[in-house]
Amino acid sequence: MEKIIEVSDISYNYSDDHPKVLKHVSLTINKGEWVSIIGHNGSGKSTLAKCLNGLIIPQEGSVHVGGFDTRDPEHIWEIRRLVGMVFQNPDNQFVGSTVMDDVAFGMENHGIPREEMVRRLHEVLRLVRMDAFADREPYRLSGGQKQRVAIAGIVALQPLIIILDEATSMLDPEGRREIIQTVRSLNKKLGLTVLSITHDLEEAVHADRILVMNQGQVVKKGTPHEIFKTPELLEKIGLDLPFAVKMNGLLRARGIAVTGTALTEEELVNELWTLHSTM
Ligand SMILES: Nc1ncnc2c1ncn2[C@@H]1O[C@H](COP(=O)(O)OP(=O)(O)OP(=O)(O)O)[C@@H](O)[C@H]1O
Ligand SMILES: [Mg+2]
Repeated sequence: MEKIIEVSDISYNYSDDHPKVLKHVSLTINKGEWVSIIGHNGSGKSTLAKCLNGLIIPQEGSVHVGGFDTRDPEHIWEIRRLVGMVFQNPDNQFVGSTVMDDVAFGMENHGIPREEMVRRLHEVLRLVRMDAFADREPYRLSGGQKQRVAIAGIVALQPLIIILDEATSMLDPEGRREIIQTVRSLNKKLGLTVLSITHDLEEAVHADRILVMNQGQVVKKGTPHEIFKTPELLEKIGLDLPFAVKMNGLLRARGIAVTGTALTEEELVNELWTLHSTM
């Protein structure tokens, strides 16, 4: 597997009189993976994300993106292009007066030739299913649509990885679903690598791999099944378990022999039907 991000033993504090907010963090992200980072408020997730695009250079350790070292000022603009970031508040991410202008703006900034720009513009708006909205004013869109436009603007720059930092947390359930679907299709169709930072464990269960952060450290890494096998750890660090995982625990406490592997409502319902039909 091709590594596209490699974080080696980084530590960081915002200033000398502050405690360290990242402590000896190491991780790798492979091409085409969808990785979720979960953790309580203040555990260092956003700080870690900023280290990945060179916005923050850790005092100790190193970060490599697509082979480039973020400490190397010569490659910082290339790194920023390779690592696209979508933030929490969809309203703070617009510069253009129409959807089309907005997506074009980022490409103009990166000096992409006009013809190529027009080609990519249509392609990315189709990918996020916003092509019918090209001439709309961004502020008239729903939260989910705004985030899809923000994602289109990033995908147009052909990044290696897209980082979503709580990008669905201000959206309603419909908006969340839209974003998860969009991200999944970009991940599958384009092989785009995705790193999603989220409080929402319902969302994290869809990732290929989960990293759990607590107090500036990565305390656990694994597939969703591996992570939710020991829900006690997640509860202990203050995370709200997905509904299906909570139900597994409640059912078992009542003597119903579920396997405990269901992570979504759908999986749990299927398991209960199977169990029911064998009773
Ligand atoms: N610019 C800053 N200056 C000083 N301290 C900061 C700064 N930004 C964040 N911190 C501190 O660093 C720690 C980690 O913050 P960070 O934003 O990385 O956490 P987080 O996991 O993203 O939290 P949240 O879930 O609230 O987004 C916190 O204690 C926070 O107060
Ligand atoms: Mg954060």
